[in-house]
Amino acid sequence: MADDATPIDLTRQVRAHLESLRSAGVMFVPRGEPIALAPLRVAVTPRQAEPLPPPPPDPIAVRKRELTVLATEVEKCDRCPELFSTRRQTVFGVGPIDPDVAFIGEAPGGDEDRAGEPFVGKAGQLLTRIINGCGFKREEVYIFNTLKCRPPGATGSGSANRPPTLEECENCRPFFERQFDIVKPKHVVALGGTAAKNLLNTSTGITKLRGKVYTLRGVPLICTFHPSAMLRDETEKTRRAIWEDMKLLLKTMGRPNPNEKKA
Ligand code: URA
Repeated sequence: MADDATPIDLTRQVRAHLESLRSAGVMFVPRGEPIALAPLRVAVTPRQAEPLPPPPPDPIAVRKRELTVLATEVEKCDRCPELFSTRRQTVFGVGPIDPDVAFIGEAPGGDEDRAGEPFVGKAGQLLTRIINGCGFKREEVYIFNTLKCRPPGATGSGSANRPPTLEECENCRPFFERQFDIVKPKHVVALGGTAAKNLLNTSTGITKLRGKVYTLRGVPLICTFHPSAMLRDETEKTRRAIWEDMKLLLKTMGRPNPNEKKA
């Protein structure tokens, strides 16, 4: 067998070699020092660190950035010469992305034009009461307007807004729609006849529009009176009608009415 034969052959060969050296007169062979073998070095190319793929983008952060970009575009808008030249600032909207509900007004008033935030004046305080009455905190809902600039007061009307013109509504619609699609509210409430008519593209008044559930860009929409109507509501009729509409909102949302005591 080859494995057994190899060492025997080697010994025999070495012995034969030494014998032939001796017969040639060689009496000594130098004893070999053990050879220190240099450690085997293998050229190892360090593995190039591959750049990690970027983390997947946070979709909420992306949409917040889109909203900021849109707000900056709105700030520069000069599509409506009168609104552009009379506004102190544009009034974009406040609240979280993906809210359960958003409230949509008509256009900023004088207080909002000063503050840069929708519904901060007297009507805004009433809106906050409506929001709280539904069981929400104001900061949990999104609040915005169909128009981002204040239509200035009609001549002789003090600080009241004039209603926006059709052209102004059309000019602002693309901004509104982009804002709506980025914020993605799950339910919406139109506050007042002007906002409701603009959103539903109808000439029907708010008294007829309220009490039903519509769809706006795929989202359930409830129409109700503007909170400022409560300011001149001596018989409480408007306040009661608004609460009826809010009950319809809560029912549509599948939420309990926090004002109703459990039996
Ligand atoms: N009325 C509106 O419709 N919007 C506001 O932001 C304030 C008052």
